[in-house]
Amino acid sequence: MNLSTTTQDTLSLHADLLALGVGADLAGLDRVEVRGIDLRAWAKRNRFSGSAGSALVIPGVPGVAAEALALIGTGKGRAIELVKAAAKVGRTARSLGAQSVVVDLPGASAEVVSTHVLSGNYVYDKFKPEKSRKPALKNLTIRGEASIASDVATFARWQSMGRDLINAPASHVYPESLADWAREHLGAIPGVHVEVWDPARLEAEGCVGLLAVGRGSARPPHMIRASYRPDGAKAHLALVGKGITFDAGGLSIKPSSGMQTMRCDMGGAATVLAAFGAIAEAGVKVHLDVLVAAAENMVDGNSYKLGDILTYPNGVTVEIHNTDAEGRLVLADALLHASRIEGVTHLVDAATLTGACVVALGSDFTALFTDSEDLATELHTAAERAGEGLWRLPLHQDYVAKLKGEWGQLKNVGGREAGSTTAALFLQHFVDGPTWAHLDIAGSSFHDKACGRCAAGATGQPIATLVEWIRAKA
Ligand code: BES
Ligand code: MN
Ligand code: ZN
Repeated sequence: MNLSTTTQDTLSLHADLLALGVGADLAGLDRVEVRGIDLRAWAKRNRFSGSAGSALVIPGVPGVAAEALALIGTGKGRAIELVKAAAKVGRTARSLGAQSVVVDLPGASAEVVSTHVLSGNYVYDKFKPEKSRKPALKNLTIRGEASIASDVATFARWQSMGRDLINAPASHVYPESLADWAREHLGAIPGVHVEVWDPARLEAEGCVGLLAVGRGSARPPHMIRASYRPDGAKAHLALVGKGITFDAGGLSIKPSSGMQTMRCDMGGAATVLAAFGAIAEAGVKVHLDVLVAAAENMVDGNSYKLGDILTYPNGVTVEIHNTDAEGRLVLADALLHASRIEGVTHLVDAATLTGACVVALGSDFTALFTDSEDLATELHTAAERAGEGLWRLPLHQDYVAKLKGEWGQLKNVGGREAGSTTAALFLQHFVDGPTWAHLDIAGSSFHDKACGRCAAGATGQPIATLVEWIRAKA
């Protein structure tokens, strides 16, 4: 991937595609003066209004050196609209198979533009017939003054690797293969150490959640741990990810429709592993630990059962009322262990935890739960810089009562009301020490359908938010 900037007249640059930002009501279109063609009339005739994320492709425009010209709507030029426009450039380039692209989006920094063009360019087409696959971007030139940091390309690569992990079928990505991925890709980075706990080790470490949830699967559960210890770091942070590589619901089995995309249930794991990779490869000076609780939630004669009671090493006992509320059980193991890592001041987990979160916020927002005003502000700032949606929901302590157990301390479900909040409150029982935030990414990390910003499947959210946050803390 070649990334560069230019201050030359973009109309004279040879490329497969020249993408020009055009504002609402075609504002700014006049800066493109091409011979013998009335672009305004073209745009009007094709109902292109310049609304954010819209696009009009015109091939072979006289006076434009690029093979095709794409007018890309930037709306009123607000930050979120420029992000949408940049992503649309990437998507348009991919659908055309454009490998060299020049982008002129006034108002946005070259870094923001390139990051979102690359993200929009992503598709998961490994299993498509060869002839229907379109090539990825190779040369991206952004109109702008400043040069682009190489970290942009590094980030794009890790984000795309994370999305590949999520999109891949559960027959390919299962706890052991996820561990292999971490060993291969993270273990190769200087300063990184990867450790994987097999079921015998999980037993020794008291990971009762992983062992219970994973018991019904032919693919044994694993805890994946990676640590990054560069010299000269001041901060020490930890990330935890839900790594349910397939969620059939267990004995509380999901209907087929609800199960169809449940390979996405390791989205939290992919998110934190990709963020970790991007931070470590960029050499950011921060001590970082990542823990991924990986298991398959299946239906089997060995499956864990309703009415089972799990006793966690911190003394909390949990009655199982629904085996489909498995994420919180495996996260509990990882949160307990992350809390015990010497020196960690902040702990953030990411998990495709509740359908209720999708109902509440839809697919454009990650839900944020935390007791810390400071951490909430930091994460909101990071999300804004990253161009990703983040919305805080209440970690309302009174609702802990909804989780009160009959026979043990807690039930693993809190009823229909405030389902995302009760899930977060459940997790809270297993954090001890670090300042903590929980991100429910059930809606934001995976879309059933393509949207303006990305193809169907894994979105890459909220990897950029985590990377921005970690960079800011370092
Ligand atoms: N993995 C699901 C949550 C989910 C739903 C993620 C839709 C992405 C899209 C989770 O394990 C689950 O099944 N949650 C249950 C919890 C309930 C039983 C309390 C849910 O949301 O229905
Ligand atoms: Mn489930
Ligand atoms: Zn799940």
